[in-house]
Amino acid sequence: MKKADYRRIAPFYDQGRAISDQNIELWLDLIKEFSEVSSGARVLDLGCGTGRFTIPMATRLGFSVTGADSSREMLAKAKEKDDADTVAWSCQDAEHLTYPNDSFDVVFASHLFHHVDSPLRVLRECRRMLRNPGVMLVRYGAIEHNRNDVEHTFFPETLAIDEARIPGVRTVESWLTNTGFAGVRSKEVVQQSYETSVVHLNAVRVKHTSVLTMITQEAFEKGLGRLEQHIKNHPDDKWLLMDTITMTAGYKTAT
Ligand SMILES: C[S@@+](CC[C@H](N)C(=O)[O-])C[C@H]1O[C@@H](n2cnc3c(N)ncnc32)[C@H](O)[C@@H]1O
Repeated sequence: MKKADYRRIAPFYDQGRAISDQNIELWLDLIKEFSEVSSGARVLDLGCGTGRFTIPMATRLGFSVTGADSSREMLAKAKEKDDADTVAWSCQDAEHLTYPNDSFDVVFASHLFHHVDSPLRVLRECRRMLRNPGVMLVRYGAIEHNRNDVEHTFFPETLAIDEARIPGVRTVESWLTNTGFAGVRSKEVVQQSYETSVVHLNAVRVKHTSVLTMITQEAFEKGLGRLEQHIKNHPDDKWLLMDTITMTAGYKTAT
């Protein structure tokens, strides 16, 4: 599988993926609702990137949080942020994790699984590292919710790449069931990710989503032109602002 290069993405990631306070609160509420753990719970944010969720989980939910990512560049960006010292950061490959058994109450992974070679191996490892009881939370944009979004519409070359790497909701649920998690359930959230169409355009310009870094520069520039034209003609098109993101949870329970 062709891999996104997070050494190149790191400098621009937060510029293109800024998340509003309202959306952070929405996801923190869902994390609380699905995990049913309280302050002090030991949480691993796997593939934590620049810490968009890692730091708020520590500061606002009072969790004892570890942020692990395979990209030193993404971790360096996370460590520059306010309150970064509330998190234990670690450079780890999700496919070869070194944490002992029973290390965490919750493992949270946002937009990670389309980057790994073997989601099942990663989930087996997560289950091993979870205490009993423990909760696995997977946050992702499912392929069925992405096919007709702005990026895949104006940059059609991205579709084949994402069809090959991005799972659907039923697939993620089956991964969790097949790796021994019980009570698997999902919730789809329609969120406003961009304040205006121009904010979205600026995010696209810095290639905010990894698939835009995986097409040719020529295809990117053509797509950008099509998107700019659409925004010029339809500046108030709400479709330009919205995303559907799913959270799937699975539970490690007493055997
Ligand atoms: C789309 S970003 C998501 C970052 C963060 N979870 C968020 O939602 O903002 C994907 C992250 O997964 C990391 N990643 C990719 N493959 C990985 C692996 N095998 N092990 C650990 N992290 C990985 C990348 O370095 C990147 O930071």
